[in-house]
Amino acid sequence: MKKAHALVGVVFGTAFFGAGISSAFAADETLRSLADKNNIYIGAILNSQWFGGGLPGEYEQIHKQQFNIVVAENEMKFDATEPQENRFNYNSGDKMVKYAKENGMRVRGHALAWHSQVPNWVNNYKNDKQKLLSVLKNHIKNVVGHWKGQVDEWDVVNEAISNNEPMWRSYSVWYQGIGPEFIDSAFVWTHEVDPDAELCYNDYNLEQGINPNAKAGFLLEQVKRWVKNGIPIHCVGSQTHVEDTTTDKHFIGSPDSLRSLAKELAKLNIKLKITELDIGFKSGINVSQSDLERQGQTFRQYLDIILEEPNADTYLIWGVSDKWSWLSGLNRQKGLIYDDNLKPKPAFDSIMVRLQTYEPPKDTAKTDSIAKDTTAKDTTAKDTTAKDTTAKDTTARDSTDAIRLLAMPSSLSMHIAGRTLSINGATSRIKVDVFDMQGRPIFSTENSSGIFDLSKIAEGLYIVQARSGSHKIVQRVNLK
Ligand code: XIL
Repeated sequence: MKKAHALVGVVFGTAFFGAGISSAFAADETLRSLADKNNIYIGAILNSQWFGGGLPGEYEQIHKQQFNIVVAENEMKFDATEPQENRFNYNSGDKMVKYAKENGMRVRGHALAWHSQVPNWVNNYKNDKQKLLSVLKNHIKNVVGHWKGQVDEWDVVNEAISNNEPMWRSYSVWYQGIGPEFIDSAFVWTHEVDPDAELCYNDYNLEQGINPNAKAGFLLEQVKRWVKNGIPIHCVGSQTHVEDTTTDKHFIGSPDSLRSLAKELAKLNIKLKITELDIGFKSGINVSQSDLERQGQTFRQYLDIILEEPNADTYLIWGVSDKWSWLSGLNRQKGLIYDDNLKPKPAFDSIMVRLQTYEPPKDTAKTDSIAKDTTAKDTTAKDTTAKDTTAKDTTARDSTDAIRLLAMPSSLSMHIAGRTLSINGATSRIKVDVFDMQGRPIFSTENSSGIFDLSKIAEGLYIVQARSGSHKIVQRVNLK
């Protein structure tokens, strides 16, 4: 990478007004080059207007100079990609993937299973569980399949938790029609289609504490259960749409709270990503210079989590310039790091200076393998025998029984070679039951030899249960 020489001067050319920060950066030093140096991803959405060619050239210049990860504001959502049943439209998404490739950027896919921005035709099936399952599965199969190997990470499930209580969001068409197992299934299906993609659960208000009544506290319990059950989840995305501390009197979120979530997730080998950051002020108020500087400090505090926590790697802002921001719909303003004229704000300076001066402590330095490792992440998915038999799983009622993999004291072991299943260690007759990932029994047989022919079952992922006397073993198998 080209390194900055001592070319000091006002390079971005304009009013850098941050108090105490001399805003002069070397010409080739960008957020992106510094993010690369620190082994993190820093990014901004491509706004919907960009896809239609409606933004000035300067927008794209800034975007590709400053960022190394990208996500589409709306263009990979359900209503954009499958506006009519089984008719897919990938044009805009393809445009972004091409742009990312040309500019060497990582791609986030957003979002597969979400209650919002779902086309009307889906709601026609709201009382038909089987149909809704196949609609979601077909969507995932097509969309993830289309961008397989090109989209590096997916928000598989977005905003499934209620705002007010520690429970699932009840008015989602997926939750109402299918039940909470739509979540487990969506992860499993996505992983099946693209086993190399990193898979996230994404939500907002996760910076509001991890106590059991807070959203992140509820989520943590679910993540523990998913990990225990071998559901292929690798990351939690914290949207982090927050309001400036002094203008939101009810503000209860903080960078510290989000950091505690990161630390809890680390224990589960799950990453934390900041996926949609903006820090808005209330609409209508007069925003002063010192307000903007305080906003910059908050941007920096959230960045610190990504720099300092070994399992955090992504800092993505929901927009480039205040001129094109979804925040007005939230009754907020000026939440981004470039102003209406595409000039960097104190928040930009704050992020830049932090990236320039950050020195990782030796033992926690992120290495390429931590920040960008996409191979080691799949251990949970492959570990199909849960170890914890004693802990009371208070949320287990929300899981499909078939996916809950029970480990019982067992002398049995299971091996599969092609379509031949062998069960070893049995002293009496063995019964084998095969379930699909929704828990529906699809095959059952028994014998004393321990050798079973599964060639009549269609290709796919299944849960296989074998019982012999009081012994039982349950494993997920992939039949090819
Ligand atoms: C927003 C877009 O920015 C808007 O253009 C659109 O009208 C609504 O959605 N959480 C999410 C994002 O996961 O997809 C949302 O994006 C913002 C909140």
